[in-house]
Amino acid sequence: MRFHGSKFVLLIFALFVFTASTKADPLPSPSVWKNQRGSVLEVWSVVGGAILGEFINNAPGFECQGIPYPAAGRDTPNGLFFVVTFAKCNSFTRWRGYVRGNQMITNWTLYYIKPNGQPSTINGNDVFLRTN
Ligand code: BTN
Repeated sequence: MRFHGSKFVLLIFALFVFTASTKADPLPSPSVWKNQRGSVLEVWSVVGGAILGEFINNAPGFECQGIPYPAAGRDTPNGLFFVVTFAKCNSFTRWRGYVRGNQMITNWTLYYIKPNGQPSTINGNDVFLRTN
């Protein structure tokens, strides 16, 4: 196969950008993470990609603060997700994101029931820093 010089450089650059942008670091276990709202995620195990741990919500403006709830999810080479059910609040949140070094960058959706009984969602971002 013959490549024109500049096309070859472009191909190498594209491959580099692709791999650099899709590759997430594996989620270490055990590990402890704290987000910018003060909430804490403890990762107890990651076995065959299955994440198990515990989450304590400490975020101002939200309910169910200070209560430990199970966290479960999946870690893959392209990123991770985990879900926490806040049983006392009839709500749950799914975080999706990736680990890069000592940071976990996530988007989340909170599924909850409005006071009038209607199901609803809120979206946001959390950045977790590894503390342990
Ligand atoms: C609720 O208010 O219904 C339960 C608590 C939800 C807390 C949310 S989950 C996403 C965001 N990040 C946090 O650390 N806490 C809030």
